[in-house]
Amino acid sequence: MNDVISLLKSHRSIRKFTDQPIDDDTIAEIMTAGFAAATSSNMQAATVIRVRSTDKREAIASLAGPQPYVASSAAFFVWCADLARSASVVSTDRVEPATDMAEHHIRACVDVALAAQNAAIAAESLGLGICYIGGIRNDPQQVCELLDIPDRVYPLFGFCIGWPDQDPDVKPRLPLSVTLKDDSYDTSCDAGGIAAYDEQMREYYRTRTGGTKDTSWTEDMGALLSRETRPHIREFLHARGIDKR
Ligand SMILES: Cc1cc2nc3c(=O)[nH]c(=O)nc-3n(C[C@H](O)[C@H](O)[C@H](O)COP(=O)(O)O)c2cc1C
Repeated sequence: MNDVISLLKSHRSIRKFTDQPIDDDTIAEIMTAGFAAATSSNMQAATVIRVRSTDKREAIASLAGPQPYVASSAAFFVWCADLARSASVVSTDRVEPATDMAEHHIRACVDVALAAQNAAIAAESLGLGICYIGGIRNDPQQVCELLDIPDRVYPLFGFCIGWPDQDPDVKPRLPLSVTLKDDSYDTSCDAGGIAAYDEQMREYYRTRTGGTKDTSWTEDMGALLSRETRPHIREFLHARGIDKR
C-alpha cells in the first residue's frame, strides 16, 4: 500500500473541530486540487460557494438539521451543480441551451461529486477533517435565497472543513464480495457478505456509542427506504429548469 491509498482508507467524517482557522492559501490549494478532477465533456459544471457570513452559516446549520458543525467548522462551503455558466456562453437568439435534460443533470452532479471528493482528499492529506452536509437539501430553496443562487444552478451538499477535535474510528464498508462484480451483476455472494457486514456495523455502532446505537446496515436501509425522503426535491429541480426531459 502507498501513502495515497493509505490516506483514502483512513477517511472518516469529522463533526467536531478545533477553533484553529485555515488560511486562505490552503483553502485555495484544496479547491484547486478539487477542480483538477475529471469533468464530463470539460463542462466544468461544479461551483462551490464559501459561506463566511456567520448569520448565513447559522441559518444553514439550522435548516440542515440542526447540524452545529456547519457553523462551527473553520470553513463551510456549498457545492452546486451549475448548468448556468455553460448556458450563458451559448445563449443566443438561435440556440436555447438544453440544460433541462436529465443527461446534463447527471453530468453536473457527477462533476460536483468528483471535484468535492478531490477537495476532501486534498484537505485530509493536510491533516484536516471534512464532513459532507446533505442536510442542506432539507430546504434547498432557502439555501438558494441565502446565497443568491440563480436558475440552472442547484446546491447539492454542504462541506465542512476544519482541524479535527475528535478521532473517530473508520466506518467499515461492505465487503468487495458484494460491491465488486465480475462480468455480470451476480448477487450470489451478496447475502453472506451483507450478513457479515451487518454484524460488523452493529459492533462498530456499539463501540462508538457506548451501546446506545445497535443497528445493522440492513436495519438502517430499512429505516431509510421505508419512507419518502425530501419529496420536494423534484419540484425544486423543475422550478430551477433542471431534469425536465
Ligand atoms: C453527499 C453526502 C451527504 C452527507 N450528509 C451528511 C450530513 O448532512 N450530516 C452528516 O453528519 N454527515 C453527512 N454525510 C456523511 C455520511 O454520513 C458518512 O460519509 C457516512 O456515514 C460514512 O461515514 P464516514 O464518512 O465516516 O466513512 C454525508 C455524506 C455524503 C457523501
